[in-house]
Amino acid sequence: MDKRCFTEPVKPLSYRSIINFKQLHLFDDPDMKLFNIKLKELIIATGLMLLSGSGFAQPMKNTNQPEINRKWWKEAIFYQIYPRSFMDSNGDGIGDLKGIISKLDYVKSLGVDAVWLNPVYASPNYDNGYDISDYQNIMKEFGVMQDFDVMLKGFHDRGIKVIMDLVVNHCSSEHKWFKAARISRKSRYYNYFHWWPAENGAPPKRWSAFDPDANAWKYNKATNSYYLHYFAAQQPDLNWENPKLRQEIYKMMRFWLDKGIDGFRMDAIAYISKDLTFPPLHAKYHGDWAMYYAGGPHLHEYIKEMNRQVLNKYNAATVAEAMGTVNDVMKFVDPVRSELNMAYHFEGVNIGYLPNEYKMVNPKGYGLLKFKRVYSKWDSAFATKGWGTIYLGNHDQPRMVTRWGNDSPEFREVSSKMLTTFILSMGGTPYYYFGDELGMSNIKFDKISDYNDIELLTNYAQVKAKGGDTNRFIEGMKISSRDNGRTPFQWNASANGGFTTGKPWLKVNPNYISVNVEAEEKDTNSVLNYFKEMVKLRKSNLAFVYGKYTLIDAGNPDVYAYTRELNNDKYLIVLNFHAKTAATNVGFDMTGIKTMINNYADGPVTDNAGQITLKPYEAAVFKIK
Ligand code: GLC
Ligand code: CA
Repeated sequence: MDKRCFTEPVKPLSYRSIINFKQLHLFDDPDMKLFNIKLKELIIATGLMLLSGSGFAQPMKNTNQPEINRKWWKEAIFYQIYPRSFMDSNGDGIGDLKGIISKLDYVKSLGVDAVWLNPVYASPNYDNGYDISDYQNIMKEFGVMQDFDVMLKGFHDRGIKVIMDLVVNHCSSEHKWFKAARISRKSRYYNYFHWWPAENGAPPKRWSAFDPDANAWKYNKATNSYYLHYFAAQQPDLNWENPKLRQEIYKMMRFWLDKGIDGFRMDAIAYISKDLTFPPLHAKYHGDWAMYYAGGPHLHEYIKEMNRQVLNKYNAATVAEAMGTVNDVMKFVDPVRSELNMAYHFEGVNIGYLPNEYKMVNPKGYGLLKFKRVYSKWDSAFATKGWGTIYLGNHDQPRMVTRWGNDSPEFREVSSKMLTTFILSMGGTPYYYFGDELGMSNIKFDKISDYNDIELLTNYAQVKAKGGDTNRFIEGMKISSRDNGRTPFQWNASANGGFTTGKPWLKVNPNYISVNVEAEEKDTNSVLNYFKEMVKLRKSNLAFVYGKYTLIDAGNPDVYAYTRELNNDKYLIVLNFHAKTAATNVGFDMTGIKTMINNYADGPVTDNAGQITLKPYEAAVFKIK
């Protein structure tokens, strides 16, 4: 199955389609005067386009540059470390804090500014650390608190900030609060959780993400009641209605901020407030989490309280895992609301899945026109207020090159570099997933027994229970499963990629023989060295951070082209998303224009009529002003 970016049929360029695209930029603008100026520009641009029939949209003039409010977290490049898979220091096959400590200089060598560390708290690991049994202790496989302190200091000594996961929609069923709560309704911890008393009959149907029966209520005999778990049964949801619970969470957050961490990535944060009347849901809502499960009536009240009582006292940087529409997400990050700083959306990473199926990619691949529309929409959402993020991979996603590029031997490197160019030239703060800088690709397990992830295993069980096609499921998971993004990091060509001297908790991708840090550090042309160059380029000019984004040649189904412009600096980025030669017309003379970076030895072919011809997966950044 080839799930790569396919060529969408090019619709004849209609007046309406041009107008629609322009609206993204136009109608979000609150200033009507600007709107009128832009309307004139639009009419001229549209006229030109219709006359030339060339199909490229003229970049709009830089008339609405918002005032810049500089912040370190806007200018930073975040590097995400999944500790379980980064480096194992003691041969037990599990990555750990001492492992990270031994690789601090590697992280520094990347040129990144900050690290997001996935959960390292005590956990029985039903969901790899997202089921926390003690928020103020370190998972025993990962080390002890002293290791954490050494690691934090090590990052800080190197000028790298650290944010940690805050997982407070749920804890672990092995947390002392839940252990006490489940004994008796009289327990002082009973109301730390959501219960449905059995005397009220069966609880209203709620689906669970990680439950073999997809049932979010689990019966507890001792209390004769059901507890709510939107994720696994081992992840009971915490009751944020209870002010005592909220104070416990704030105390715990202060504990980590007092240690000197720089902020939090807020896991599943939109779920903390739910509609506790539990209105009936139609079956078609299964999985439509954001709309029907999350965003309850007190969500923003709680976040504001958290901000007042904790975050703003420490100037902590925060990023929300925020599902939903632009409006839903904006509520977290609109600065006037004093809630959180950054948010990441799911619309981008959800492109290309078949409807009504669990993470099954469309065999035809995904369409670049859709991809451009989605990323342009979110860029425009944050163009004047709030702040977004940009990412193509993380621990909940497969490897970026397999999902969004092309992991065949011919194109793995060049398409990895192209995607890196995209992430590091777009607006919003980049969250770059460890291993993508090497061009690590999906392992594509054939056997269910190779998998570890609770999400995949429960979905497999469901397919099986329904008599579904498990082979088709396994084939689909080769592209989309989370374990593809969790295989151990590839340090060198020795056994297990140098990750462990023991048996790794998840198999290492056999391509570690050539795809590894040691080999790539030596190769000036490697994906790793390209990543470092691209980091330097982003950091060399604030236009990449604060510059206005303008999509050009919007209707081009093969090439993603845009400019980033701030004051007197303007860059043009052109990215070929396909395995064939493609061209774009940018509408101005390219002779003598400086190429800042390019993923081929010989740069793209440009001409004085604005035509740029790109080789397969070619990426280039030009300085045009
Ligand atoms: C978030 C995490 C994911 C986890 C889930 C439940 O989506 O990123 O890894 O499984 O929350 O905590
Ligand atoms: Ca270990």
